[in-house]
Order: sequence, then structure tokens, then C-alpha cells
Amino acid sequence: MRQPSLKRLLLGWLLGPLLGLLAIASAGAFYIARTSATDAYDKALLDPIQALSQHIETVNNKPVLKMAPESLHSLFTDAYDSLYYQLATNDGHVFEGNLRLPTPPHLTTKPLFYNASVNGSDVRVAALRLELDDSPDAVVIQIAETLSKRDRNLYEILAIMIAPALVMVLAAVLLVWFGISRGLTPLQKLQAEIAARSLRDLRPVPEDHAPEEVRPVIASLNTLLNNLAAAIDGQQRFLANAAHQLRTPLAGLQTQVEVALRKDMPAELRATFEQLLTATQRAAHLANQLLTLARAEPGALHLMAMQNLNLATLIEDVIGQWLGRAKAKHIDLGFEITSAELSGDPLLIGELVANLIDNAIRYTPEDGYVTVRCYQDGGAVLEVDDNGIGIPESQREKVLERFYRVDGSPGNGCGLGLAIVQEIAKLHGAELTISTPDHARGTRIKVRFPLQTGRS
Ligand SMILES: Nc1ncnc2c1ncn2[C@@H]1O[C@H](COP(=O)(O)OP(=O)(O)O)[C@@H](O)[C@H]1O
Ligand SMILES: [Mg+2]
Repeated sequence: MRQPSLKRLLLGWLLGPLLGLLAIASAGAFYIARTSATDAYDKALLDPIQALSQHIETVNNKPVLKMAPESLHSLFTDAYDSLYYQLATNDGHVFEGNLRLPTPPHLTTKPLFYNASVNGSDVRVAALRLELDDSPDAVVIQIAETLSKRDRNLYEILAIMIAPALVMVLAAVLLVWFGISRGLTPLQKLQAEIAARSLRDLRPVPEDHAPEEVRPVIASLNTLLNNLAAAIDGQQRFLANAAHQLRTPLAGLQTQVEVALRKDMPAELRATFEQLLTATQRAAHLANQLLTLARAEPGALHLMAMQNLNLATLIEDVIGQWLGRAKAKHIDLGFEITSAELSGDPLLIGELVANLIDNAIRYTPEDGYVTVRCYQDGGAVLEVDDNGIGIPESQREKVLERFYRVDGSPGNGCGLGLAIVQEIAKLHGAELTISTPDHARGTRIKVRFPLQTGRS
């Protein structure tokens, strides 16, 4: 199962309890506000009870209310609620009132407040037992009030409390979200730092700016990178050693075969020896190419001897070694070289140039032409054109892979040449493109080196 994102996890853990606390706090505050409001309204009901009690007199041993009707009326008129009253003797005889009210629970001389229902509507009732000085009977005074005012007040309290609570919730969500995002930026930075790395960049990830919690992860990652670099290094060294070790016996073998071929021998045997020579040359070429590849691989970065070079000089120096092969194939080998400066390893750049010229001559039929060009266009640019068989568009990525050859390619190549060119180009930050020359036949391979900055 996929783990939820850290952001969501943190948000859940922080926001959930926070909202819970907020809800509890709001409920508590609401309860307190409502209780004190109820108290205030209840106290207000004591005023009419007080007024009534002052007008009760005893006539013929019976309690009676002596109050002008207008006073009574004004006492029980309210803008929002209906008010009812009832005066009864202790034994339940009602002697005054505008509505029959339910008998109160056990009463003392302290006022009692309770909820009841009259005529189908809810009311709040205040009741008081009044002892009379001149009568053995006590009087029970009850006043009931409908709940409009109280309900309205309840809504007001709710509104007053809910609006700020909502604002708080919103602010909390935003703050927590912002805080988490800020808190997680080091992780994003780390991610960007790792994502931006190229295959050849196995340097340790800097640890000092990372937060404490992430440091162990970085440390482990760095250990891994370190081990990986060591492993690659070992592999590379093995490849280079193996290739190097193979070269000597192969060179000896080749010499021996060449010596043997100079001697008289039956034609049949000669044919076998000639095949042996081709195979030996091929094996020697392969060993050489493997060695070059090992030197051009990312892990060999530290072995590079970077210098300021001029492509023109470098090519001029090797022209001679290609003329013979071109002539043998009647290929018009031309050079259009102008100064093109770059920073690079002369040995590797030499291999790059050699592999491109080798391919061009190899894959161009007799009487074709090959042009080697270099010039400065921002950075140094190298172009090798030929009018040979060309590389089909669909194969232009594949020919850069190791040991890949286009089906039916002539010659006894091993498919490493362009892979080497590609690796060397990458090591130098150069860009390699395969296209067709302007006259729409053959191959153009262009290597564009980066502009040289800060020459040493
Ligand atoms: N100049 C070229 N013209 C046509 N095809 C080419 C050219 N250069 C390379 N190729 C094709 O790309 C393949 C890979 O080249 P390379 O890596 O040098 O290996 P190899 O030359 O050993 O076959 C070759 O087999 C060939 O088919
Ligand atoms: Mg080749």
C-alpha cells in the first residue's frame, strides 16, 4: 500500500487534534455563555414576582391580590414574549392568574426556576413560596415566560462564537499548511539536488545544511554513493587491466601470423592464415577500443588530463595516418580546419576524432568523399561528413549503444566506436548529433563542445 505523503500525515496529526480542541473549547465557551444568559433572564423574572408579592393581602383569612388591572397589565406585557402568572394557595387553590400553570415541584421560600410547557409552547417558569404574616396559608406565585428572547439570544451567542471559530479553523489550516510546506523545503531541496545529478556525479550529497532528521538518510545515501563509486572504479580498473593485458599477446600473435604469411605455404593454408590475421587484428582492435572505453567512462573522470587544446592542431597531426587508407579506397579525404579551441583530454579527443574518421572511411564506398571540418562557433565544433551508406533515422540513437552495429554493416567492427565517441563527448560536456549532410546522402556527425570559460 502506498504511504500517504508526509505533508498529509503531518496535516492529519496536527490539524485533527487542533480542530478537536477548538471544537471542545467552543462548546465549553458556548455552554458558559448560555448558562450566564439564562441566569440573567431568570433573575429578570424575579421582578414581577416581587411586585406581585407586595400586593398580596389577607382578607377574611384568605389571600387576595390587590392590584390595579392597568398595573397588572403593564407588569405582564413584553415586546417579545408572552408572560403568564398564577397565584395559588399552598393547598392548590388558584385565586388569581391569567393562565393555569403546572404545579411546581417541591418549593421552599427560595425562588425556583424550571422549564415547562403550557398551551403547547415551551416556557420558563419562576416560582416562589411566600409566607404571609397574618395568615397560616402560604401563597405560591408562579410566572411563566415563553422562550423567544432566550432563543434569540442563543442564536446570537452561537453566531458570535461560530464566526471567530471558523476564522480560527481557516487560519489554523493555512498556518499548518504553510508551516509544513516550509518545514519540508529541506527535503525538496535534497530531492532537487539528487535529481539534478548526472550519472557521472557520485560526489557525496552535502550534509551540513540538511536538518538533523534528514542527516542520517543523507549519510546512508552518501555511503551508498561512495560504495557505488568504488564498485564502478573497480570494474573500470578491471576492464582497463584486462584490455591492457590482452593487447600484448594479441600484438605478438599478430606479428607471428604476419611473419608466417611471408613464407611459402600452400594456398589453402595461406587462406587460413589470412583469416587468422583478420581475426587477430579484430581482437586487437577490440582490446584497444575496450581500453579507450574504460578510460572514457564516467568513473574515469579523475584520470582525465584536461588541457587547452586546438582541434585544428590536433587534427593536422593525424591527417597523415588516414591518407593511405583513404587513397586505397579512392576516397577523397578533405580537411577544412580552422582554429577551434576547447578544454579537453588530448588522448581522448584524439580517439574521438579517429573513431569518426574511421567510420566515415569504412562506411563510404569507393570513390566517395569524406570531409573533416572544425571551426569555432561559440564553442569548438567538429564535423565529419561522408557520402556513404548513411545511418537510417531510426538507428541514430541505437548506433550510440555499445556493441550495436546496423545489420549488414560492412567490415569487422565491434560496435564500440560511436559508444566511445559518445562517452568522450559527454565527459567534455559536448553535444553529439547525427544527421545527413546538406546534399542529402551519407552521414554527418557533429560534436559541439561547450564554450570555454575562464581559460587557465
Ligand atoms: N559514417 C557512417 N556511415 C554509415 N554508417 C555508420 C557510420 N558510422 C557508424 N555507422 C553505423 O553505426 C554502427 C556503429 O558504429 P560504431 O559504433 O563505430 O561500430 P563499428 O564501426 O565497430 O561497427 C556501424 O556498424 C554502422 O552501421
Ligand atoms: Mg566504428
